[in-house]
Amino acid sequence: MLLEVRDLHVEFHTREGVAKAVNGVNYSVDAGETLAVLGESGSGKSVTAQAVMGILDMPPGRIPKGEILFQGQDLLTLKEEERRKVRGAKMAMIFQDALSSLNPVLSVGEQLGEMFIVHKGMSKKDARAQAVELMDRVRIPAAKERVGQYPHQFSGGMRQRIMIAMALALEPELIIADEPTTALDVTVQAQVMDLLAELQREYNMGLILITHDLGVVADVADKIAVMYAGRIVEQSPVHEIYKAPAHPYTRGLLDSIPRLDQKGQELYAIKGLPPNLLAIPPGCAFNPRCPMAQDVCRTDVPPLYPVTESPVPRTSACHFWKECLHG
Ligand SMILES: Nc1ncnc2c1ncn2[C@@H]1O[C@H](COP(=O)(O)OP(=O)(O)OP(=O)(O)O)[C@@H](O)[C@H]1O
Ligand SMILES: [Mg+2]
Repeated sequence: MLLEVRDLHVEFHTREGVAKAVNGVNYSVDAGETLAVLGESGSGKSVTAQAVMGILDMPPGRIPKGEILFQGQDLLTLKEEERRKVRGAKMAMIFQDALSSLNPVLSVGEQLGEMFIVHKGMSKKDARAQAVELMDRVRIPAAKERVGQYPHQFSGGMRQRIMIAMALALEPELIIADEPTTALDVTVQAQVMDLLAELQREYNMGLILITHDLGVVADVADKIAVMYAGRIVEQSPVHEIYKAPAHPYTRGLLDSIPRLDQKGQELYAIKGLPPNLLAIPPGCAFNPRCPMAQDVCRTDVPPLYPVTESPVPRTSACHFWKECLHG
């Protein structure tokens, strides 16, 4: 397994108290595999990713418990210097907002080339040639002419391609893309997503794709992890989850996708709000919003029930997963 996150906990110590942002996350992704991570705002998707990348704000963040195994090695036990090496060469992250991730006063070619100069000790000239090649790979037209231009001279979609190029530069084994297309308009979103999926296959990388867009997930992901209040409430191979969700929260998310055949109909939205992470309700965190909740849901934290075993195990953290699956 390329990456395995085990029982990860992350908390933030704030003036108001301890915010429990991640509460026992387990997920894994293999080479060539795409794991999509879904969930409402504040469910801990980005914080989990930041912990994996080793870019969590600490303090106020703290990891009281858990393991992050990368190629079998627990990254949480590494010294900062070793950690930096893994981060630079073996994993890369793509963020939503390319403009704030790129340096406005350096040309795109300089920023891409920098990767090769710093990490591979290339000459400036060779690094520039590599930069042009990368820009070609992410299909930026006229790469040779545009390599000297600055980020603001590119469109949003092109900038996001440059971010992908930066991430690919050192041929990492794992890419984490945190809502990589959210800031783009719909047609450009699809193009950028297709490109990312294609490169991921070509390079045989593991990809963790954080997204709100269930439509995208169906096209590119192998498996899905649905997060709620810092936990994964359902994990499943992608096709099975669309057929029949095994958690009422997943059902709510699926029911809130607009469908072409139901134009004009009102969209179902999950009632209520995600919990305050300073005071997560006892029992199942989703119980106050759950249409299926019973007494046991208000008292007992559901374990991860195995729904199916093979080939990719499917799990649900719902006491009534069977009813949900068949309802
Ligand atoms: N540096 C920080 N200090 C304090 N709290 C933080 C910090 N970073 C994140 N949090 C809290 O951790 C929780 C989880 O945040 P996270 O960014 O992982 O959510 P998310 O699932 O990525 O949401 P979104 O879909 O909006 O990106 C949030 O309540 C957030 O306020
Ligand atoms: Mg986020």
